[in-house]
Amino acid sequence: MSGIRPMKFVHVVYRTRRFEQMVRWYETVFGAKVQYQNPALAFLTYDSEHHRFAFANLDILKPESSEKDRRGLVGVDHLAYTYASLKDLLENYEQLKAQHIKPYWCVHHGMTVSMYYADPDRNQMEFQVDCFASTEEANAFMEGPHFAENPIGVEYDPDDWLARLRAGTPPSEFLVRRIHEPVSPIRGSFAS
Ligand SMILES: [Fe+2]
Repeated sequence: MSGIRPMKFVHVVYRTRRFEQMVRWYETVFGAKVQYQNPALAFLTYDSEHHRFAFANLDILKPESSEKDRRGLVGVDHLAYTYASLKDLLENYEQLKAQHIKPYWCVHHGMTVSMYYADPDRNQMEFQVDCFASTEEANAFMEGPHFAENPIGVEYDPDDWLARLRAGTPPSEFLVRRIHEPVSPIRGSFAS
């Protein structure tokens, strides 16, 4: 059992072939506003969280298969939980690893440092820590050039980070994304 628990549940990401329709539906039903959108991805929120919903456009990201409703591609990509600190996120990683539960993707999104896990049914979830102390800073990052340049993220090695954190490197050194390349592929169900 892991002794470290998430602080809060924060968002859900859907994969869709009805990208514009989906964005409009969530705007209408939740009074959500688009925080960032490009042809492949859209991030929406209805409160002080930087995003409550995101949509991945399969027509752009997986154009080779076009069945509108095939489960496994269309549907929930992941649910996300926020941890209180980078230390919590990395120590939880280590505790789970000792029980042979490992993330399939460790990526620095810019506004969050994230680890993605899959449960035994392959439902995907993101464990994350916020990079910015305020919503204003997170929103500014999502509206800025580095997010437009790389809205997916840059991969990192959690063992290396945990070792360096324990050796005294301050968390801010990891939380501020200073390199924006290479753009990571989206891992998990997208890869299969
Ligand atoms: Fe996410």
